[in-house]
Amino acid sequence: MTSIVILISGRGSNMEAIVKTAQKDAWPAKIAAVISNRPDASGLDFARSHGIPTAVLDHKKFKDRAEFDHQLVQLIDSYTPDLVVLAGFMRILTGDFVSHYEGKLLNIHPSLLPLFPGLHTHEQALAAGVSEHGATVHFVTEALDHGPMVIQASVPVLPGDDADTLAKRVLKQEHIIYPRAVRWFIDNRISIDQGRVLVSPPESQLLVSQDK
Ligand code: GRF
Repeated sequence: MTSIVILISGRGSNMEAIVKTAQKDAWPAKIAAVISNRPDASGLDFARSHGIPTAVLDHKKFKDRAEFDHQLVQLIDSYTPDLVVLAGFMRILTGDFVSHYEGKLLNIHPSLLPLFPGLHTHEQALAAGVSEHGATVHFVTEALDHGPMVIQASVPVLPGDDADTLAKRVLKQEHIIYPRAVRWFIDNRISIDQGRVLVSPPESQLLVSQDK
């Protein structure tokens, strides 16, 4: 039984998608806890209402990033997870944190990495004038929004799009690819070879959506 801890900062819709898929498909996994750095993260309500233990570690109560990350590691490890899932967790993590969870820390980023790391990815995509955009699930390394990519989903950028319409189109795909990546991890189907993620048996690591 794979034990999973999910970290959120807000709405938590990716966490919700993972929890719902885990329940629907009876994953051989347990969501051991949902942890937020913000006490008012609305995703906590969903987790509580689904009987998942929740915890809050308010980053504002710590003197610096290192201190917060140190406590966060203690808290996460108290649930002895096999996998830590960042789902809209809006914190830059220290090298110590990242190396502690090497190979078992996943993140989702709302762009087709390596394009548009950082914040405001939908605005960045519109400003660049690209015709496709998307999201990436990747293992976390020390470099921000970088690391071996597990699966990507692409969506078209349509005439008349603004950041909100584009974000909505991308988010729908995020809710498909994140549960899929987590399931691959649970089923031991993922390996990393020279920075490249291999899935075995092979399955497409790119989802191309034509959804409007
Ligand atoms: C998502 O777009 C995710 O890719 C990004 O932050 C957003 C979080 O949304 N990292 P939610 O909290 O999962 O609804």
